[in-house]
Amino acid sequence: MQFGQHAAASRTIIHISDTHLLADGVLLGGQYDTSANLRAMLARIERVEGASAIVVTGDLTDLGEPDAYRELARLVEPVAQRMGVPVVWVAGNHDERPAMRRDLLGEDPSQRAIRRAFDLDGLRLVALDSTVPGWHHGEIDEEQIAWLREVLSEPAPLGTILALHHPPLPSHVPMFDILELRNQPALAEALDGSDVRAILAGHLHYSMSGSFAGVPTFVAAASCYTMDVARPAREVNGMDAGQSFHLVHVYDDQVTSTVVPVDAADPADFFTPEWYARVEAMTPEERLEFFSRKRA
Ligand SMILES: [Fe+2]
Ligand SMILES: [Fe+2]
Repeated sequence: MQFGQHAAASRTIIHISDTHLLADGVLLGGQYDTSANLRAMLARIERVEGASAIVVTGDLTDLGEPDAYRELARLVEPVAQRMGVPVVWVAGNHDERPAMRRDLLGEDPSQRAIRRAFDLDGLRLVALDSTVPGWHHGEIDEEQIAWLREVLSEPAPLGTILALHHPPLPSHVPMFDILELRNQPALAEALDGSDVRAILAGHLHYSMSGSFAGVPTFVAAASCYTMDVARPAREVNGMDAGQSFHLVHVYDDQVTSTVVPVDAADPADFFTPEWYARVEAMTPEERLEFFSRKRA
């Protein structure tokens, strides 16, 4: 169905971030039920049609506990299987590489960066590891920059989407820049002239978009808790509300990111399958008259 200027999106990626799971159902900060909040998000995600992948941009667990990774897999993987999509796991500063490798990815534990490239039927998705073991700030090490350059040296049919935890964007929240991604100029240089069409990130616990080295950059909020950025700068704090995920739509010449709140209410019943069928059956003139004409 195309009645406008853009052909339908060729790929839809579900972008989640900052699940911060804890082992044994322990509440994060004594108040956030990270497991229940993720389950609520997944119940909404499972209704999305036509997705190509689920990308989780880091801080998968809060403390890097083996049981938290196993719980994460237990919650997310059946949903992904029913939807028929792969899950792309990205490491965040709260993760621990050895446990993430062993208990989530089923690999030998090691401190090597967890970076890899996926082929989503012609769309390349590159997951980088911006974590620095022992620290909460981020950095893409030289080995990964070199690897990224190598991967990007050959363009992909539908271009590339980059996913990493620490966004290469400024945050207006005081002190967050202490935990920012360092060596952003090196990353920008690696992207220069490449086929990277969008960057997906997390870490901030609030939704944000910007542009890095000319590439649209989308930050998904969190499933665990979000930052209430409506408060005065020095009083911004976490809240058990506002959780959301993003739908990233890849078009021929655009990439868009749509924020989807987990909270929902019973929808209205104006748009029905019958309504769509009726509009579809109209001539272009009838459709414009019916759906665009203002009526007094
Ligand atoms: Fe986080
Ligand atoms: Fe983080």
